[in-house]
Amino acid sequence: MAIKKVGVLGCGLMGSGIAQVSAQAGYETVVREVEQKFLDKGLAGIDKSLGKFVEKGKMTAADKDACIGRLKGSTSLDDLADCDIVIEAIVENPELKKETYAALDKIVKKEAIFASNTSSLTITELSMATARPKQFVGLHFFNPVPLMKLVEVVRTILTTDAAFNEAFAFARSLGKEAVTARDNSGFIVNRLLVPYILDAIRAYEEGVGSIEDIDKAMQLGCGYPMGPFTLLDFVGLDTTYYITEVMFAEYREKRFASPPLLRKMVLAGRFGRKSGAGFYDYASGTPVPFDKRS
Ligand code: 3HC
Repeated sequence: MAIKKVGVLGCGLMGSGIAQVSAQAGYETVVREVEQKFLDKGLAGIDKSLGKFVEKGKMTAADKDACIGRLKGSTSLDDLADCDIVIEAIVENPELKKETYAALDKIVKKEAIFASNTSSLTITELSMATARPKQFVGLHFFNPVPLMKLVEVVRTILTTDAAFNEAFAFARSLGKEAVTARDNSGFIVNRLLVPYILDAIRAYEEGVGSIEDIDKAMQLGCGYPMGPFTLLDFVGLDTTYYITEVMFAEYREKRFASPPLLRKMVLAGRFGRKSGAGFYDYASGTPVPFDKRS
């Protein structure tokens, strides 16, 4: 089966990015949200992102218009019926995901591949909510999707070679590099990244260095694009906390357990950039580290 039409569930930060790169790669793309206001917000984000590419001369205005022309927003699951692949990027709630997959399974043509962009849940569990676990994979993108080069393609013990190879080729066709990952919570990247960023919080709690110095040390000492606290604010502290809960439940290892400060930040509503404050405050325009605020 050649993939021609792509469905994306969820038009938040990740879903909108996935829909964007799919339309940019030439696929007819339908992105579905539960409410029109969320759809409008996601589509506006896509327009802004494409606008940046035009501004920088990486895309022509005509290509931007053509890309937007290939993209359709919808609030109905029925509009995904004839998609060849459906990528789910809704909230990390396993029950809601399973409910949505079960409904989708009855609507979408039976040859279509289902994929999840989950960060930490196991693909096997999600796939069992459908009658097509053999055509079920993980396609894990990275934030910001239009810029980040990687997609982890995850196969379960049930995924067929044909479905996996199709999904892998699809990821490559989006202009991304793809890696194969086994269906273990966190796959490759979060399995390694999560203990690192949690350890940065523990190091700060132990007084190893200030937030700013730990960030600077890892950015300049290791050549990382962002230090761990800047990255935490970028990914979202609530999202990270949720991932740690799932990974700790799966592995029962301390390295995946949330440090007390992360939980407190989340309880205090400091979710990172999206809420205006996390390990840094963003109100003034220049990020002010949490431990230097007045
Ligand atoms: N679309 C188009 N352009 C965008 C964009 C988007 N979505 N987001 C940013 N840009 C533009 C910026 O506006 C900027 O343009 P400018 O030069 O005109 O100002 C340009 O891209 C470069 O951005 P920055 O100036 O911020 O510079 P950087 O060189 O730092 O690049 C970055 C930004 C790619 C985000 C880089 O900092 C980076 O790689 N950071 C690490 C990100 C990361 O680790 N992501 C993975 C998170 S983990 C994850 O997603 C997994 C999940 O399961 C939790």
